[in-house]
Amino acid sequence: MSANLRKFVTSPGGRVAGEIGVPGDKSISHRVAMLAAVAAGDSEISGYLEADDCLATLAALAELGVRVERLGAGSLRIHGVGLQGLAAPRAALELGNSGTSMRLLAGLLAGQAFDSVLVGDASLMRRPMERVAAPLRRMGGDVRTQDGRPPITIRGHRKLTGCSHALEDPSAQIKSALLLAGLQATGRTSVHEPSTSRDHTERLLPTFGVPVFRDDGAVAIDGPARLSAAQVEVPGDFSSAAYFIVAGLIAGRSPLVIRGVGVNPTRTALLDILRQMGGDIRMHPAASAASEPRADIEVRPSALRGVAVPESHVPIAMDELPVLFAAAAVAEGDTLVTGAGELRVKESDRLNAMATGLESLGVAVERLTDGLRVRGGVVRGGIVDSQGDHRVAMAFAVLGACANGPIAIRDVQNVATSFPGFAQTARAAGLQLAEEG
Ligand code: S3P
Repeated sequence: MSANLRKFVTSPGGRVAGEIGVPGDKSISHRVAMLAAVAAGDSEISGYLEADDCLATLAALAELGVRVERLGAGSLRIHGVGLQGLAAPRAALELGNSGTSMRLLAGLLAGQAFDSVLVGDASLMRRPMERVAAPLRRMGGDVRTQDGRPPITIRGHRKLTGCSHALEDPSAQIKSALLLAGLQATGRTSVHEPSTSRDHTERLLPTFGVPVFRDDGAVAIDGPARLSAAQVEVPGDFSSAAYFIVAGLIAGRSPLVIRGVGVNPTRTALLDILRQMGGDIRMHPAASAASEPRADIEVRPSALRGVAVPESHVPIAMDELPVLFAAAAVAEGDTLVTGAGELRVKESDRLNAMATGLESLGVAVERLTDGLRVRGGVVRGGIVDSQGDHRVAMAFAVLGACANGPIAIRDVQNVATSFPGFAQTARAAGLQLAEEG
């Protein structure tokens, strides 16, 4: 059977409770691999997310001449080659479904002494890339897109000059690409955002020996930089934990604890939103990892009420909005999300994918250009298409516990891009979820 026929089938009920862990953070894994690759010496990484997206980054680095040794599950030794030590790739770098790999690598490669071409799967080839190519050209890079989309074609032997960038919208991918380019640029590269996006790159750079300067909403580094090898433990991915945070609230029987989750405040706006909705969420701090705060998150069954989500929360809850819409479907009253137009250019048009799926389960949804209004109520069983989007698939998998019949979720193979073993973890948490195909 072809991979794209793979589906999840949920059954109502389940008894969500107990203790689970989630795999390593996707954003941090990409960054650690790239920084270790251009550091001098061998870095050791534990908790690396061995999901398709982060494996695509490792495969690209291997193609660029970096030796990556797998020491065990999630445990890697990356033999850094230094910023001048990458080798010209023999073919286009194939990045699958991973927008983060493509945008960050564009930054890392803009100042190299060789040409490179970045491509991906059908979804990635539709995604906007001028937002990263244009500021890299301002630094002197020869970075081109095709009508704003991949392939990204980079000509080497360009001297990059640091400059100060003011982003119109917050974006950790663009900020990170510019800082990675800045490592090879002459002078200071600074990035100003209208509000803070996830700050993993700037937290990690000092671990690899690169000083970071923060000034009035901007983050800056001085180039050319030298990176030294590091040992890094990657915390659990908050975005993966989000499915179980919601599951524990809407389908819990007793407390559910999710261990070892990264709780960087630039990622966790979902917690504020769910608490405003009446969610009982408790944090038990644990030792930090990768310069990131980490905690065990305990959730208890809670009756949720709809809220109007403040737009200031949206950029730092962006990846969690699909599962928030699932929570909204069973909350009392309306939940309104606006200012989330960016969801239309993720792995799928997530506003459309979630609205279409919810409607087919009998949930009333008002479609807005930049968001959705979801009216909580009865959720029927039915058939939902994830549109090949991992976060849509997992959001409906959680909602299945509260539907009044089974939900078949189609096209779920891309769950492996961010959360290998999701179905097993879901069953361990008490959800009734079968995989077919
Ligand atoms: C990411 C940044 C966010 C996020 C994406 C991962 C990252 O995107 O949605 O899933 O690792 O930097 P933007 O940079 O477009 O905000």
